[in-house]
Amino acid sequence: MKKNLGHPVFKVLADIAAENHIEAYIIGGYVRDIFLNRPSKDIDIVVLGNGINFAELAGKALKSKVAVFKSFGTAMLKYKELELEFVGARKESYRSDSRKPIVENGTIEDDQLRRDFTINALAISLNKENFGQLIDPFKGVEDLEQQLIRTPLDPEITFSDDPLRMMRAIRFATQLNFKIDEQALAAIAKQKERISILSKERITDELNKIILSPVPSIGFKHLFNTGLLHLIFPQMTALYGVEIINGKGHKDNFYHTLQVLDNICEVTDDLWLRWAAILHDIAKPPTKRFEENHGWTFHGHEDKGARMVPQIFAQLKLPLNEKMKLVQKLVQLHLRPIVLAQEVVTDSAVRRLLFDAGEDIDSLMMLCNADVTTKNEYKVKKYRNNFELVKQKLKDVEERDKLRNWQPPVTGTDIMEIFGLTAGKEVGLIKNAIREAILEGEITNSYDEALAFMLVKGKELGLLPVTNPSK
Ligand code: CTP
Repeated sequence: MKKNLGHPVFKVLADIAAENHIEAYIIGGYVRDIFLNRPSKDIDIVVLGNGINFAELAGKALKSKVAVFKSFGTAMLKYKELELEFVGARKESYRSDSRKPIVENGTIEDDQLRRDFTINALAISLNKENFGQLIDPFKGVEDLEQQLIRTPLDPEITFSDDPLRMMRAIRFATQLNFKIDEQALAAIAKQKERISILSKERITDELNKIILSPVPSIGFKHLFNTGLLHLIFPQMTALYGVEIINGKGHKDNFYHTLQVLDNICEVTDDLWLRWAAILHDIAKPPTKRFEENHGWTFHGHEDKGARMVPQIFAQLKLPLNEKMKLVQKLVQLHLRPIVLAQEVVTDSAVRRLLFDAGEDIDSLMMLCNADVTTKNEYKVKKYRNNFELVKQKLKDVEERDKLRNWQPPVTGTDIMEIFGLTAGKEVGLIKNAIREAILEGEITNSYDEALAFMLVKGKELGLLPVTNPSK
């Protein structure tokens, strides 16, 4: 099979190869993505010989600066929108305690054989005699057609050589909605412990790619069934299973969580909202109780869950920044709209939710919608209708009271100036009282009403204004 290599850069590389009598091939993800019709900008070039020398020649011809990574034997250059990476064909063997291989020069087939999956081991010739020819000794194209992730070597060797490939197998299967070859899956289960030689960052990088796929549950089921999830994220595996007491069971929170995750993925590509879905019920196992009168309860799982978020983010080397705070807030508040949807909705409850969720109210509503996973069509309809009512109510109250980005109409500085106070307990008391009065609907969210209320409150505390407050 010959492939039409449209980009002019390939002709330039082919001329260099011919003039210098060096064999060169395009290899890996770029070739795979041609077959998948996914245009890609990262091109890996493998040459029989010295990859760095070839890159220097290419740099000259393309008038591009070459970055050399001597210790890896690789070099990289940017040309227009493309990023080209050059490496010599390798024959590799690995030691058991490291991802760093022992490397020797090899043939193109040696190089393909040492790659992770058959679909990533496809090469296209840049040589004069067969320019554009597909080199596919391990039936990668057939596997693309069969939608199969398979290793060129015995999978036990491929995964032992580089355990990151266990995560990559699951990641590609999830991104592409491919199956994983049975033997490869068994090899992952067998070698799962080798994941421990990888850095947490590399693992989480792959995990995030799984989470950003269209249907992440595919990947999580593989991670769970192979045992990898137990090693990299045990808190999530604790959600698995159903306990039954006195004939009463609870839902399996692992599969429920996966359903919520898939649901939210239909409406957002945001990684952190997807993480919020993963973590919304994370504290159900440690808060689970069986009460004679109520059956199963998970009281306080939203509070405990929110407290678990920083620890889980630290464990997974996720950023401990405002993204974590967002996830924490969504976990903390995830039951609130549901409660509103079930009860008669009072304005003050809606105002409190708006106040607590602030800018993130839409994200919270998205999470709550995704959290409806009952198979009962009638219940789904009922919940969704109630959510629409809550949404409408949120809109009405927001339009009227502008609480989304709430700033106190009378600030702490105002209070200190008017009563001639220095910072202290009384200022806090008055500030809280004003906020409560607004949230309860006793006064409107305006300067005048807040000021009048403040004077009354001050009086109760024995305070009199020292300046004229109307100014
Ligand atoms: N590769 C490998 N083992 C790894 C990583 C990479 O064999 N652990 C090989 C594969 O042939 C892969 C190529 O190196 O196609 C390039 O790797 P990379 O850029 O990480 O991935 P891509 O396959 O290009 O896919 P993506 O861009 O989606 O990560």
